Amino acid sequence: MSARVGRGRLFAAVTGALVFLAAQAAGEDPGFMPKGGRALLLEMAGSPPDIGELRKIAQARRTEVEWRGFAAARAKNLSGRELDTLAAYFAVNLPLAEDVAQRGDLAKALPADGRDLAWNQCQFCHSLFTSYLTQDRELQAWRNIFLSPFHREMKMSPQEREEFARYSALNMPMKFDDVPPDLRF
Ligand code: HEC
Repeated sequence: MSARVGRGRLFAAVTGALVFLAAQAAGEDPGFMPKGGRALLLEMAGSPPDIGELRKIAQARRTEVEWRGFAAARAKNLSGRELDTLAAYFAVNLPLAEDVAQRGDLAKALPADGRDLAWNQCQFCHSLFTSYLTQDRELQAWRNIFLSPFHREMKMSPQEREEFARYSALNMPMKFDDVPPDLRF
């Protein structure tokens, strides 16, 4: 890698980190984005979450089609896209490892969903708006993001990358008007 590219990347990373901090300081949170599977699961588990129920779900092994049917039977208020998002989250992330499933704070220990991952991993080096929220990609094209030289070193596990890709293919792009004005850059 040339020094020029290195400096450019560092500049991008520093600028992105500042942008990210500015967005958080402005009180932005990812609530404007479609819910991911973790958020939908917690909604389904009630408030406060029924931990026994959550544990049963977290330890189950089903195919994605079976998960879709399970979710549709349990959560009647979800849209078709939300059911697809939840079924994809289940299929990618479950069953959880035994030690995680047994934790008393299981609700907090659930794997990050696509929305969490996009919000936390994608705005350090460039804006979320142009590089994520407005991107219209098929599933494989989302997976391919991780093949670019500048993305290869991202610290996301294979499971997180797949969760991110599945969520994004279902829920992106967002409509311009649904993104808070101070994030449209
Ligand atoms: C370590 C810094 C870094 C992080 C973190 C990062 N990117 Fe990038 N990204 C870059 C750089 C550098 C480029 C190329 C120059 C540019 O377009 O700004 C780029 C370009 C892109 C592009 C346009 C080129 C392409 O590959 O199609 C997209 C889309 C993109 N990033 C999406 C993402 C998403 C989604 C995430 C989170 C999963 C992410 N980026 C996280 C550094 C980063």
